[in-house]
Amino acid sequence: MDERPILFFDSGVGGLSIVEPARAALPAAPFVYAADSAGFPYGTKSEAEIAGRVPALLGRLVERYRPRLVVIACNTASTIALPAVRAALDLPVVGTVPAIKPAAELSATRVIGVLGTEATVRQAYVDDLSARFAGDCLVLRHGSAELVELAEAKLRGEAAPADAYARVLAGLFDQPGGDRIDVVVNACTHFPLVEAELEIAAPHPVRFVDGGPGIARRIAHLTAGQGWPAQDGRTGRLDGVAVFTRLGERERALLPALESRGFGRAEAL
Ligand code: SIN
Repeated sequence: MDERPILFFDSGVGGLSIVEPARAALPAAPFVYAADSAGFPYGTKSEAEIAGRVPALLGRLVERYRPRLVVIACNTASTIALPAVRAALDLPVVGTVPAIKPAAELSATRVIGVLGTEATVRQAYVDDLSARFAGDCLVLRHGSAELVELAEAKLRGEAAPADAYARVLAGLFDQPGGDRIDVVVNACTHFPLVEAELEIAAPHPVRFVDGGPGIARRIAHLTAGQGWPAQDGRTGRLDGVAVFTRLGERERALLPALESRGFGRAEAL
């Protein structure tokens, strides 16, 4: 039986928004979730730092966990380091890129918002996606480090200041044309974790889209026909392993949220 897991990698817990649809699609698959908590957050780091750090860490993780497939469950790391990771690893690597194509397919007003980290929204890759898939749309962007922190804090069980989400969204919706946005791309994997809060705080009703469902389909396609280990007879699911590059107090505060999502074990890299 093929025991090799699927390895998900993110700077923090945002990648759980990618794990959830993947686990729903492949309940028998063993999962390893790795968070570069020592390097968190990525969104405010330089391209050079991310381009050096991500392939090096993934090399160590692949050596230790021997996955069948790697998913970079982080838009910032994917838009900067995906080609280098693919070149370095001898196994399939799936990246997370801003879901501009599905957003353009859904938009009636032809005005799309892209909400990501500062590092993601300034990438030329986002210009390319906009030109290829949303050429007839006005694509407004906003990068927010605060929203990443709000999502991490939510998973640690901490309450957010009352106007925090509205303040973040003002950076997008207050731009010229922002009053006509009808679809927002969650271009950071942390943001679907606070989508309910974003929906309430948006100045008018909008749809949010993200890469999770598309990535789950891609993983299912890449692993079609492969065997999975026998499932736990009691729960019908296998426990996942959560790995942190630094396992301190902040990370331990995340463990209940990880446990409730099927990660029964935490390790330091
Ligand atoms: C962050 O670490 O700043 C978030 C990374 C991301 O998911 O884009």
